[in-house]
Amino acid sequence: MTKKAMRCFLYFFYFFLFFMVCVLPSYADEDRVKAELGDKSPLANPLKSALGEAEYDKAVKSGGYSYSGNLKCRLCHRDFFMGRKKDPHEHTFKSRVETGHPEEPRCLACHTTGYGVATGFSSIKETPKLADVQCEGCHGPGSKHNELGAKGGFLAGKDHPEILKKMCQACHNARWNKSFSNLDTAYEAYRNAEAAAASK
Ligand code: HEC
Ligand code: HEC
Ligand code: HEC
Ligand code: HEC
Repeated sequence: MTKKAMRCFLYFFYFFLFFMVCVLPSYADEDRVKAELGDKSPLANPLKSALGEAEYDKAVKSGGYSYSGNLKCRLCHRDFFMGRKKDPHEHTFKSRVETGHPEEPRCLACHTTGYGVATGFSSIKETPKLADVQCEGCHGPGSKHNELGAKGGFLAGKDHPEILKKMCQACHNARWNKSFSNLDTAYEAYRNAEAAAASK
């Protein structure tokens, strides 16, 4: 091959790689976003799906649990936070929906903390401290735990792994399922990482 042909081939090859890695996946995501926006099924409410309607009404509608936001958790779990800065859940609002769909309920349901629940995220203007999927996005509202200042008081805490697992499934549903192929393995990875962070 001449040098010129080689260079030409390389350019083509890099373009091909760029297309496969950057362009195609974003088209696929556009399709998922379109499908989500056109979906007429009820809005996702991860906490309600995980607890079941009756338990949800009993625990949440009664006002017994409310969201406090990460700043509160940080007061007592400071070292823990250092260990999990890179968690993608901490960037689900800013990097994913803020630019194109900052007020779209269908997106906010899974990309913020507690959207659709009385004390949860409502809009970036009113509740900026509950953007992204924070601690309480997985563990549920933390007011009772905060008062205890000791283990317990969560709807989806360490003592309720079956509910916590259902929280994962409520957001990582059939449409939004690209982040892992096996829920148990993904759950274990979180369990180990958080146990390690907590023991620091
Ligand atoms: C006043 C201090 C305090 C605050 C505020 C606090 N925690 Fe805790 N948390 C603790 C203590 C103490 C433990 C027990 C640690 C242990 O047993 O090793 C704990 C344990 C936990 C556990 C594991 C045990 C369980 O019941 O599931 C989770 C999860 C947790 N905290 C999450 C949070 C979140 C989320 C927030 C914010 C909403 C928060 N914590 C706010 C003090 C606090
Ligand atoms: C039922 C929960 C749920 C809803 C509703 C939802 N998302 Fe997501 N979204 C997820 C999960 C989980 C992921 C990560 C897993 C994945 O990409 O499949 C994700 C990932 C993404 C990504 C990153 C994709 C990538 O491959 O990097 C974008 C962008 C996104 N969502 C935008 C949106 C927009 C815009 C809406 C509203 C039209 C929306 N999402 C609604 C749960 C949801
Ligand atoms: C993506 C979901 C998710 C998010 C977000 C999340 N956690 Fe957890 N957390 C888990 C899982 C899963 C476990 C393991 C529960 C078990 O033992 O089965 C866990 C366990 C814990 C434990 C107990 C660790 C141990 O074994 O002693 C603490 C403490 C904790 N989380 C605090 C937090 C705090 C604070 C935040 C916010 C900075 C947070 N978590 C955010 C999923 C999450
Ligand atoms: C409230 C909704 C919600 C809950 C609950 C939730 N996730 Fe996620 N998760 C997301 C979103 C949205 C993303 C996409 C983050 C991004 O790329 O912007 C994500 C990303 C991830 C990723 C990373 C994907 C990557 O590209 O690195 C893993 C792994 C994951 N979640 C596992 C879990 C597990 C395990 C649980 C339960 C313990 C859980 N999630 C609970 C919404 C959720």
